[in-house]
Amino acid sequence: MKNLQKMVSAITLCVGMVAGAQAAPDTIKFSHVVAENTPKGQMALKFRDLVAERIGDKYVVEVYPNSQLFGDGKEMEALILGDIQFIAPSLSKFSKYTKQLQIYDLPFLFKDMAAVDRFQRSEAGQALLNSVQGKGLTGLGYLHNGLKQLSANDPLRVPSDADGKKFRIMSSDVLAAQFEAVDAVPLKKPFSEVFTLLQTRAIDGQENTWSNIYSKKFFEVQPYITESNHGVLDYMVTTSNEFWSGLPDADRDVLKKALDEAVAHGNQIANEKGMKDRQNIIDSGRSQVITLTDAERQQWVEVMKPVWGEFQEQIGQSLIDAAVASNQ
Ligand code: SIN
Repeated sequence: MKNLQKMVSAITLCVGMVAGAQAAPDTIKFSHVVAENTPKGQMALKFRDLVAERIGDKYVVEVYPNSQLFGDGKEMEALILGDIQFIAPSLSKFSKYTKQLQIYDLPFLFKDMAAVDRFQRSEAGQALLNSVQGKGLTGLGYLHNGLKQLSANDPLRVPSDADGKKFRIMSSDVLAAQFEAVDAVPLKKPFSEVFTLLQTRAIDGQENTWSNIYSKKFFEVQPYITESNHGVLDYMVTTSNEFWSGLPDADRDVLKKALDEAVAHGNQIANEKGMKDRQNIIDSGRSQVITLTDAERQQWVEVMKPVWGEFQEQIGQSLIDAAVASNQ
């Protein structure tokens, strides 16, 4: 009888322990290709911290910067396969999944970042977040980086200065056409290879934002940077349909709110950091920042802008009109 009582108490204790035990939090992996001291790097860390604060008993966000886990070309597949749960690729890297986002690569489309922001907040801009839905991807929001500048081994003042030069580009046909328009040679290469390609002079130049040029030290191996502001480099924070729809509704809401706040934080940093890193580059004395005259800039506009026509059918004229309207 005593033994039976002991057995019953032991079973009761075990059941109690199992019921009271906390399940380990689920890991959410956020992979990206840039440095931590960039708008995207800071946004991902903010998201990690907000999740820890608000729902840390259920989820832990691990951030993998600098192409540590997956680089360009691999991160979207990894997302769809469920190896990672969040990425924020440049809008130029989605062309395999949708042609509509190519709009962001049209040269000289937006006059400044405020216009980019207005377009992204518009109905047309918001609708583009759903353009990859059919491919298993959910666009959760835009994140700014900034306008792109041209860096090179030689000074680039007018389009003919780029003639025959090799430029690294992101995986975008629009960007390829943009460089072909100035008789340059575009090469699609992952972000993680750019520094070495520049350092070894395997390529002559590249286009990027101030924060990427600074954080990845491109300015140390590119003696000239032309302040062209010829295009935008922004991001779409993306998850997979499978992961997102598989979350309990309440958890999804908490994660989305944390993400929105992290994106707002990243956007604020993007504004400030662009100008700060521009100054850091000037102060370094390693690279000369070239300011174009209006007449010189106009030459780039005239040669590059006809690229719009080549992609008008794929992107849609009404979308292009909506983006142009955001400049007012
Ligand atoms: C990024 O900002 O995510 C990378 C941009 C690039 O590939 O040049």
